[in-house]
Amino acid sequence: MTAPEIHCGDCRAVLAALTPASVDVVVTSPPYNLDLRYASYQDRREDAEYLDWMVRVAEAVRRVMKPDASFFLNISGSSARPWLPFELIVRLRPLFVLQNHITWIKSIATGSDSVGHYKPVGGTRFLNHAHEHIFHLTLDGNVKLDRLAIGVPFKDKSNIARRGHVRDLRCRGNTWFIPYATVQSRAEKFHHPGTFPVDLPRWCIRLHGRPAPVVLDPFMGTGTTLVAARLEHAHGIGIDIDPAYVAIARERLSRLEDG
Ligand SMILES: C[S@@+](CC[C@H](N)C(=O)[O-])C[C@H]1O[C@@H](n2cnc3c(N)ncnc32)[C@H](O)[C@@H]1O
Repeated sequence: MTAPEIHCGDCRAVLAALTPASVDVVVTSPPYNLDLRYASYQDRREDAEYLDWMVRVAEAVRRVMKPDASFFLNISGSSARPWLPFELIVRLRPLFVLQNHITWIKSIATGSDSVGHYKPVGGTRFLNHAHEHIFHLTLDGNVKLDRLAIGVPFKDKSNIARRGHVRDLRCRGNTWFIPYATVQSRAEKFHHPGTFPVDLPRWCIRLHGRPAPVVLDPFMGTGTTLVAARLEHAHGIGIDIDPAYVAIARERLSRLEDG
């Protein structure tokens, strides 16, 4: 397998230099414009300016996607500022088909039990914010997926024969429960305010279902998508504007090689 390509720079500039129609899977989580404290990037601008910028990034991503590529865009609003992800996805409509809308669930209560971590919110207006969007964008809406690659066993085994399935697996559906691993310190979160768990990009890569795919993350942060790509035997390309996060990504990948 070829070594991952890691670029430190502005994603639009780096994307412009990549070969057109060369990428199978894009998994990324851009800045959300929610004033998160990144090492250098200022995560708060006028909403209109942010949306224009994200459309230009999406155009640059579209150029490098193969005709049957999948673009998984993970984004969220906050309880107080919930509109932006929806405004963005409407702006992206001339560029992509929204083939699936996946809800990433970070914590859930079933009956009187609960699983996963959540940040408690104060006050009486809002429910705790326990989910994010993963918009699955494709060029024509007809991209064939390997749904059973992330399938789950049937609860009622009689369904296997009755419905003519060959394997004890059914589609997981479009609600994905992926909790964060428990960490004891900020260092274990790589001193980054907005990472996603490695299973999120792993499931996206498996769902797209091509052997040895080229996987791109234009907002790589600490390199979680590249770690996932490595674990899924994919070729990873990552871009981040911040040298401190690029260094962390390189370190995570070299630990993977050593271990
Ligand atoms: C939400 S974080 C991504 C976190 C990543 N998914 C992870 O698990 O570590 C967004 C990243 O975008 C980077 N960024 C902001 N503007 C950028 C730009 N113009 N080009 C490339 N990266 C940029 C920030 O430095 C930040 O690390």
